[in-house]
Amino acid sequence: MSKIKVCVVGLGQIGFPVAQYCEVKGLEVYGYDINPATVEKAVTTGKFKATTNWAEIPKMDVYVVCVTTSQTPEGPDLSPVFDVCKKIAETNTNPTALVAIESTIIPGTTKKIFETYFKSKILLVHAPHRYWADEPEKHGVNQLRVIGAVNGESLKAGLNFYQETLGIPMHVCSSVEVAEMCKITENSHRYLQIAFAEDLKMMCAKIGMNFEELRAACNTKWNVDIPEARDGIGRHCLPKDIKYVTHIAPSILLESAMSVDKKYREWLSKQH
Ligand SMILES: NC(=O)c1ccc[n+]([C@@H]2O[C@H](COP(=O)([O-])OP(=O)(O)OC[C@H]3O[C@@H](n4cnc5c(N)ncnc54)[C@H](O)[C@@H]3O)[C@@H](O)[C@H]2O)c1
Repeated sequence: MSKIKVCVVGLGQIGFPVAQYCEVKGLEVYGYDINPATVEKAVTTGKFKATTNWAEIPKMDVYVVCVTTSQTPEGPDLSPVFDVCKKIAETNTNPTALVAIESTIIPGTTKKIFETYFKSKILLVHAPHRYWADEPEKHGVNQLRVIGAVNGESLKAGLNFYQETLGIPMHVCSSVEVAEMCKITENSHRYLQIAFAEDLKMMCAKIGMNFEELRAACNTKWNVDIPEARDGIGRHCLPKDIKYVTHIAPSILLESAMSVDKKYREWLSKQH
């Protein structure tokens, strides 16, 4: 039996380990990225073929989309996901090819892409990533994920790919919009927890109480888990994803959490 051919599109923090994982699972893996340095690194350190030239990608069974999504002052910038899906639609000749969008997007994106580019010519799912680069063994590619699809046929193909071929447990959402919303909601939830810790730390400073001692005491309760308050809510995903949620629907709570983080950073910069 011939190997399943998969193209991982976008070889950054998420795409590279996804491509490596697929290779270990015995798939024939191709990587594609617009950044020559990223492709060079992937070819040197990975065990799969990679290119910046889309024309070199042969007929595929599966495309896994792991490209950048970002936030601009005007709102979410999902153009890389649209760009690569357009490319796939223009060149794919396999009527049963599966496209799995793993990049973080907002509700409505997957269906818009399906209707704009793929119509009924391709199977399409969204399986957002939960990768945590600090603990890839525990929270890496094969942790429990959610999946949503544009139709039943796509869902069947998506589950077959993730669960049967890759051995990744999947929680099925009844609509692709729930899967899209799930990713940005879980990151907003995490943001809120950290913002609460930051707020509490500033309150403790005001009343002269040791924040770490209070946190440790609170966390002895079975349903309390206050995280650390470090240097402000950084990295790429949490600050971006909470803005994706407030872009869709205003939220007093989420807006306040972002104000708390801003205030905390200012406060921190004034501590010796
Ligand atoms: N890094 C994480 O821990 C993490 C966790 C969960 C979800 N995500 C999400 O996964 C997605 C990718 O994140 P990342 O951290 O891997 O980003 P990254 O910036 O490390 O990698 C993205 C890659 O996509 C490439 N790219 C951009 N536009 C492209 C295009 N048009 N065609 C081909 N390649 C293109 C870039 O060159 C880059 O190498 C984002 O939506 C992010 O929000 C990231």
